[in-house]
Amino acid sequence: MNKSAQQKAAHVTTRRLYDMKQNGEKISVLTAYDYTMSRILDRAGIDVILVGDSASNVFSGHNTTLPITVDEMIYHARAVVRGVQAETGRAMVVVDMPFMSYQLSGEEALRNAGKIMKEHECDAVKMEGGRTIADTVRRITDAGIPVMGHLGLMPQSIYKYGSYKVRAEDRAEAEQLLEDAAALERAGAFAVVLEKIPSSLAGEISGMLSIPTIGIGAGVECDGQVLVVNDILGLNREFHPRFVRQYADLNTIIEESVRRYVSDVQSGGFPSAEESY
Ligand code: KIV
Repeated sequence: MNKSAQQKAAHVTTRRLYDMKQNGEKISVLTAYDYTMSRILDRAGIDVILVGDSASNVFSGHNTTLPITVDEMIYHARAVVRGVQAETGRAMVVVDMPFMSYQLSGEEALRNAGKIMKEHECDAVKMEGGRTIADTVRRITDAGIPVMGHLGLMPQSIYKYGSYKVRAEDRAEAEQLLEDAAALERAGAFAVVLEKIPSSLAGEISGMLSIPTIGIGAGVECDGQVLVVNDILGLNREFHPRFVRQYADLNTIIEESVRRYVSDVQSGGFPSAEESY
């Protein structure tokens, strides 16, 4: 086997994530929406890249995730898959099914999930909801498409809840969430994102399920963690929730770099003789 074939051999699969949970190995997940970022994430050893519908916020500047369409998700997903393929090919790519692409009927959901899978080589789709979408999850997984669930704070339902506050703090809502998580596992989901719920509840769900839980603002007892890549890189100056750990301040670095470029162009200091032909 040549070097590149060896590197391509380690692609992360749903089976691998399941085994990671059983072995107590934590799963790392970050979002990406474009080719350049996806190359960096794959090279850095991320297990899963989520082409999140958060693209609607951080890429397109909408206030919510609701406006993004299936075709726009496919556009981002294609770029991300190409980025992984250009590097080690290891990272699994999961694509969010956008708002209203799976709620109308099981048939419509399957058609859209199939379109997302067919139009580029991603590994799985992600959907928000529990018992209400369990039949749809079953239908999609029966067709051979892996589904990641998403419970707790579900940004596609933000107008229903009216706020981004922590979910399931009282026992009644926690019991509902436990039932939703169990329903997703029974329906064939291979993993579940738990967003912004108490750590103790996330720990309880992680202990109850045999499939991995991926937390965002859900504490360390989840089987893996996901964050929005723009947040950990400090690209977004306005958004600093408690659950984000910021590893860089790229906003400042980029702004200062652009200021220096503008000044060099204005002063005639760029390009130099070495930068010219
Ligand atoms: O769209 C997204 O980025 C997500 C993650 C935050 C879990 O769903």
